[in-house]
Amino acid sequence: MNPNHVAIIMDGNGRWAKLRGLKRTEGHLKGSETLKELVEYAFSNGVKVLSVFAFSTENFNRSKVEVDFLMDLFIKKFNEYFYELHQKGIKVVFSKKDAGLPLKLESIIKDVTEKTKDNKNGIFNICINYGGQDEILDMTKKVCTKVINNELDINSITKEVISNNLYQDLPPIDLLIRTSGEYRISNFMLWQMAYAEFYFTDVLWPDFDEKELENAISAFNKRDRRYGGVKKK
Ligand code: IPE
Ligand code: IPE
Ligand code: MG
Repeated sequence: MNPNHVAIIMDGNGRWAKLRGLKRTEGHLKGSETLKELVEYAFSNGVKVLSVFAFSTENFNRSKVEVDFLMDLFIKKFNEYFYELHQKGIKVVFSKKDAGLPLKLESIIKDVTEKTKDNKNGIFNICINYGGQDEILDMTKKVCTKVINNELDINSITKEVISNNLYQDLPPIDLLIRTSGEYRISNFMLWQMAYAEFYFTDVLWPDFDEKELENAISAFNKRDRRYGGVKKK
């Protein structure tokens, strides 16, 4: 069965550009076009939830030129892609820290979230200004506040409660893809990937096309997910 929740660490834009003698920003532009095609492909192939890592809290360490370019690109692309996603009935959500992005971007994010909130054909989760440890830290503060205010009994804290108090309440990740030949998680969705199947490829993000996603999904379909149990005969 195709994975329900696919998460992608879209990496390698800079190297893609460098290989072609282009500026890193050109790689981000091409990468954003790749994403547009893949979103459509994923939702028409049984994927119900698609999470992507667009910008980490750590990515603010990059040059001002690159960060500014990316922020402008997000503003432009969220506006551009929103209508089509909405037409297709996709709910767009954002996993992010409360503040820190340019105000114009924060307001587009609010707008897209509000307009697509009742859509039922799939969930597109965009992680932007996101860090997995921060998400767990922020959840911990929220849950503790509820306990202190007597809204929640400490013995009633379950995994579901934790999930409900993360940035977004999403099902577990089935398939995690990372492009560009790096074998690390880079502080991506730590809680949600507890039992994810990992797929690493050397392909750089701007070159990751439908065929590559198909390869990742078919690799996933050959995996034997045991969840600590014993292989099925
Ligand atoms: C991923 O590509 C995009 C973001 C992190 C925003 P990179 O920009 O990290 O590309 P490389 O890793 O330098 O090639
Ligand atoms: C992870 O890629 C973040 C995104 C894809 C947005 P990075 O390129 O920032 O990760 P590191 O620095 O190689 O771990
Ligand atoms: Mg990178």
